Amino acid sequence: MIEYRLATEKDEKKIAELHHDYINKGFLSELGINFLELLYKAMIKSNEIVCIVAEKENEIIGFVSGAIDLKKFYKEFLKENFLKATFKIFPKVFNPKILLKIYETIFYPIKINQTIPHAELLSIVVKKEYQGKNIGEELFKYLKKEFKKRGVSEFKVIVGENLPKAVKFYEKMNGKLIGKIEVHRGNISRIYGWKIWLTNFATFYQEGISFFYYFYLDFQ
Ligand SMILES: CC(C)(COP(=O)(O)OP(=O)(O)OC[C@H]1O[C@@H](n2cnc3c(N)ncnc32)[C@H](O)[C@@H]1OP(=O)(O)O)[C@@H](O)C(=O)NCCC(=O)NCCS
Repeated sequence: MIEYRLATEKDEKKIAELHHDYINKGFLSELGINFLELLYKAMIKSNEIVCIVAEKENEIIGFVSGAIDLKKFYKEFLKENFLKATFKIFPKVFNPKILLKIYETIFYPIKINQTIPHAELLSIVVKKEYQGKNIGEELFKYLKKEFKKRGVSEFKVIVGENLPKAVKFYEKMNGKLIGKIEVHRGNISRIYGWKIWLTNFATFYQEGISFFYYFYLDFQ
């Protein structure tokens, strides 16, 4: 039996390992496992982040992480962990290429058009031997449910065009292509978006606007 649940602090090491092993083309993995552990520890604690794990017989076999407000989380993270984070990535911190990538990673939310959803699916991983068994889909659905509970009405994912399998997965999850962005120089990423229908009356007006925006995209 596979259990899906919110991550707790004891999961940070395993999540960091999965991220490091399976998102190895991603820039965060370049910063090393110790940095990823620090990052996921802060993510699990933060109210701006949702982190969900799939667990089978006490083994973490997959996870998904998402941000309600990534800018707020980065601010929080740097305020509380600046020295520790610098120490964890030492001596890479003196490498100008790495410094540029850190800058691009922290400041890409600013480059994004304001009509694009703020909330974001950040990473999703399922261990190789469990892939193709709908675990990724279940994690995705759980994240959507958690976002909804926290009042998020739409979210996005940014995925490199050099990751065709991940692109296929997000398309299979019915993501709508809503834009492209160059987060790191020379690497084009796609932005996929999802709508979550909230039942709360106060959000009705906001949902109406974004419904018409997505409708408009269909006819572009
Ligand atoms: C992407 C990933 C999380 C998908 O997890 P998964 O558990 O294998 O996916 P599921 O079994 O839930 O598949 C759901 C749907 O997506 C499709 N899909 C999943 N992986 C796919 C692949 N590699 N190629 C094509 N389609 C794929 C499946 O066809 C499936 O639809 P179906 O049930 O109609 O066949 C997993 O492959 C993974 O961990 N990849 C490495 C890390 C990664 O690239 N993460 C994304 C970037 S952060």
